[in-house]
Amino acid sequence: DWTPDSFVDTTVQSLKDKIGNDKVVLGLSGGVDSTVAAVLLDKAIGENLHCIFVNNGLLRKDEFQSVLDQYEGMGLNVKGVDASARFLSELKGESDPEKKRKIIGRVFIEVFDDESHKIKDVKWLAQGTIYPDVIESVSATGGPSATIKSHHNVGGLPDFMKLKVVEPLRMIFKDEVRRVGKSMGIDAELLGRHPFPGPGLAIRILGDITEEKVRILQEVDAIFINGLKKWDLYNDVWQAGAMLLPVNSVGVMGDERTYEKCVALRAVESVDGMTADWVNLPYKFLQETSNKIINNVKGVNRVVYDISSKPPATIEWE
Ligand code: XMP
Repeated sequence: DWTPDSFVDTTVQSLKDKIGNDKVVLGLSGGVDSTVAAVLLDKAIGENLHCIFVNNGLLRKDEFQSVLDQYEGMGLNVKGVDASARFLSELKGESDPEKKRKIIGRVFIEVFDDESHKIKDVKWLAQGTIYPDVIESVSATGGPSATIKSHHNVGGLPDFMKLKVVEPLRMIFKDEVRRVGKSMGIDAELLGRHPFPGPGLAIRILGDITEEKVRILQEVDAIFINGLKKWDLYNDVWQAGAMLLPVNSVGVMGDERTYEKCVALRAVESVDGMTADWVNLPYKFLQETSNKIINNVKGVNRVVYDISSKPPATIEWE
């Protein structure tokens, strides 16, 4: 019978047998899959697992530092690499969604490749690939592994992609990954996190990306997500986030007319992201959230709630 505990035992043993004293590199994304894969490998090979967590400057507010702290608290051998400036400079002026994705994928690979060269004699690349990724070959929910998979066909392979690949979760589903994580003592909050796309806030800022737009959207997103947690709605939602729209709309401030940014909030129910329905969030919650955003985030004077289902409307706006 499959149980999380027996899965952990057999997987840890087989990882030990397979890897021996070799070194392994793994990209952590802050998501469930890469984290559970890392903890399994850590149990099997300890310090020979070298985790890399890249800040692309497009994560949620304060997320890079808080997730890095959490990983360190779990005893993982992890290196945080803040490449925000490099990502933002390469994205400068680009407003085509697919080009933004390509730039982020390419820069991620370059940063990851540089970092893996710094690990002497690394032999293996570990990935948090789960069974649905194996079938679809491209993950819907992101993270470094999805980024790598969807971009590895451009140009020559970077060196880390020539490493032997180890994927401890490739035979199991998401709910099983969560159970395995729980049985290894990973924090419930981390295991219950919403999916977050690899390109991050870049595909939620419609049009070109600037540091200021990222800052505005991080503030808005944090108010929305913290509100969902406070109102105990977070776990009823499959994914949520805010979009920064490329329009200014009119507002009044005293006797003055202002033209400021409009943000759209999106919260969906889904099983796998392939279809999705907007969540019927309480009006009181929406009211409180909208007031908080408009009163606290400079540059935003209008908040709308997205009530579109997928299909045809995708979850992300880009
Ligand atoms: P859509 O917008 O296609 O999103 O309905 C479905 C799921 O996929 C995520 N998503 C991405 N994840 N790279 C990723 O890693 C991407 O380019 C990307 N685009 C969308 C989205 O957040 C949702 O979970």
